[in-house]
This record gives sequence, structure tokens and C-alpha cells, in this order.
Amino acid sequence: ILFAAFSLTLRSCSQEKLQDTNKWPRESMLAELMENMDKKSAWDRFYSETSSRSPNFKNFEWFFGFDAVQDFITPFLQTASLSRRPVQVLDMGCGTSALGPSIYRDSALPVRVTCADISPVAVRLMREHVRANPVRPRNASSQIEFLELDCTQLDSHYGPSSLDLIVDKGTTDALLRSKEGAEKAASVLRQCLKVLRRSGSLLQFSDEDPDARLVWLETAAQGQGLAAADVGVQEVGVLRGVCYYCYQVTAHHDVNK
Ligand SMILES: C[S@@+](CC[C@H](N)C(=O)[O-])C[C@H]1O[C@@H](n2cnc3c(N)ncnc32)[C@H](O)[C@@H]1O
Repeated sequence: ILFAAFSLTLRSCSQEKLQDTNKWPRESMLAELMENMDKKSAWDRFYSETSSRSPNFKNFEWFFGFDAVQDFITPFLQTASLSRRPVQVLDMGCGTSALGPSIYRDSALPVRVTCADISPVAVRLMREHVRANPVRPRNASSQIEFLELDCTQLDSHYGPSSLDLIVDKGTTDALLRSKEGAEKAASVLRQCLKVLRRSGSLLQFSDEDPDARLVWLETAAQGQGLAAADVGVQEVGVLRGVCYYCYQVTAHHDVNK
């Protein structure tokens, strides 16, 4: 049902504040993806198939795009910028979304944006697209990079307290909704809290109901020496009958202690 909602939402994108998208791949592939949204091979097939349908690259947005979430992200960039260094932002599970490049392009403050995904196909498509169509940042000191990264290994790649903001549009949803992904999602959340700087935040954009997600966030964030994090939610909006939320998790403790 949830996947049908995603599909419906994407098909309605010209009427709503959604991004234009490529055509959806075969039904059989979607069914397979549904079961395996925590698997690299399933996403590689998804991005290979969606990109092969169009001769020109088009960003593929899982539900809405940057315009719909910009106002939720900007305040966190401003808070993080008080430290007078480029704000370190990770788009975790970026796919071929324009979210990361849009943050890089639009931020008046210097940012260092890393767009990371487990799928080398998605990462290659993004790299090639940006190389062929360079994005000009508002702040000349801003940087962007594309990285193949399994976010279940986040703390192997990033040291403790090294990121200011992690944005997750649909990635935790993908893990939570796959057969074997629930434990992975909890581990990813704990690793996010570890690699975030003090007062750094994780923003999860999701259609999961707050009754379920807030409890999950509060429970999963506990343990492994991590003190309780602040968890909150704001409504992003209703698109074609599906309500989307921005979940915010901020660690106020020093996880290195
Ligand atoms: C629902 S899609 C969202 C993509 C993108 N954020 C968007 O808004 O269009 C989930 C993304 O998470 C990626 N993904 C799944 N498991 C992952 C993992 N363990 N590490 C990093 N990325 C992962 C997938 O390749 C896919 O691009």
C-alpha cells in the first residue's frame, strides 16, 4: 500500500509541488524492489532500468523534491554555520535525487555536501550528470562530492562528531520496509548520532505516521552509550492523500565520552 502511495505521488508530480521524474520501471521489478529495499543489487537494477528509459539524465525523486523540504533544511544549516566553517552535510541514500546538489547550489553559507548511496549506479549517474552540467553554488567556498557508501557502515567512514547535518529522504523508510532491514535501520540511526557533531541533526523525510516513527526513533536511539536524543516531528504536507513528515533527531550529548 505504501509503495502504491509513492507511485501515485510520483505520477501526480506535475500537479503538486513535486519534482518531475522518469517513468517507473516494470511492475515485476517494483515488486522485487519492495522486498529488497535494503539490498544494493535491487537498487542497482532500479537505477539502471530508470536511467535506460530516458536518453537524458533526469533526477529521480522518491516522493517530493528540494522545493518541498528546503524550508525544513535551511534553519539547520544556519545553526550549524555559527561555528564559522563549511557546514558538513550528508545526503544519506541520495539515489539520483537533486536534493544534495540543490542544497549545494542554494546555500548562501559555505557547505560541504556529500551525496552518498549504496548503489554505484546511482553514484555514477550523479557524478556524470554534475560533471556534464556543473552546478554553480551561491557560496564560492561550497563543495560537493558523490560517494558510494553503505550507510550501515557510516561510522567506519566518518569519525565521531564529524557531520553537522544528515538528510535522509526515504532511506530509513526503505530499510524499515524491507524484509531484513529493521535492525539495519536502528544501527544506522545510532551511527548517525555518533558521527553528528554536538547539536548536529538528522532529518528524516518520511510518510510514516508519527505514532509509529517517534516511538521507533526514541527507542532505537537509546543504547550503546548514547544518551537520549531530542526527537521531534513537523508535517511537510499532504500530497495526493499521503501525509509526509520531517522527523528531526538532535544529539545534545557528547557521544565520545
Ligand atoms: C527510497 S530511495 C530514496 C532515494 C533519494 N533519497 C530520493 O529521495 O529520491 C532509498 C535510497 O537508499 C539507498 N540505500 C538503501 N540502502 C542503503 C544503504 N545501506 N546505504 C546507503 N544507501 C542505501 C538506495 O540505493 C536508494 O537510493
